[in-house]
Amino acid sequence: MPGFKREDFSFNAPNSITAIVSAVLLGISISISSTATAKDFTPREVTDMLHLQMTALHSVYSKKIIARLVNKDKVISASEEYEKDKALPLPAQMFRFGAEAVSNMTNKYSYSMLSEWPINPNNIPITPTELKGFKFIAQNEGKNFYTTEEIAGKKYFTAIYASRAISEACVTCHNNHKSSPKKNFILNDIMGGIVIRLAQDK
Ligand code: HEC
Repeated sequence: MPGFKREDFSFNAPNSITAIVSAVLLGISISISSTATAKDFTPREVTDMLHLQMTALHSVYSKKIIARLVNKDKVISASEEYEKDKALPLPAQMFRFGAEAVSNMTNKYSYSMLSEWPINPNNIPITPTELKGFKFIAQNEGKNFYTTEEIAGKKYFTAIYASRAISEACVTCHNNHKSSPKKNFILNDIMGGIVIRLAQDK
């Protein structure tokens, strides 16, 4: 499904007079549109968009950084011990650093990548909603899990999206990792999932 592209909005200013006129008109149209009611997104639409954004960044890092510099050009390695090894962090680590940074900046939403068979023991599902959600995505291929939950007296809209073994690299690395509790992942298995929470209290 093609998305919205900024280039589709053509803005031609052949001379400075039209540029000024257009700028004034644009100013007016912006001030008019700002008084109109913006579309309110549903919590589900918001978590779907956040999920899209985070998986896009995750795959961009894997392709444009790791696959290029590590696998193709072989100029640097990627390592879980990236500081000690002076290497690039793994995509899953970059993902977690992003999530940790967000949690330090806002309490409006939070997210994490979890698994019932985690390499990093902190990434295990624990809340009743997480456990229910992971069971749901395992039994309902292609479906996401959406619900509301209360944690420490606060209400959340919570969404869980499956993370699948889309390449052999996922399977090989997890199956061979000394801390992985599961050694028999195969291609396209659900290896875990992304949990996104939106705070519902104002
Ligand atoms: C080079 C090794 C490597 C590759 C390749 C890899 N992972 Fe991981 N993965 C890890 C490590 C290490 C962690 C723990 C990161 C952390 O510290 O939170 C992790 C974490 C995860 C988690 C969170 C639960 C856990 O195990 O801690 C999921 C889910 C996951 N990976 C899925 C995938 C998928 C899907 C792919 C392929 C698209 C993939 N991984 C590729 C090493 C790898």
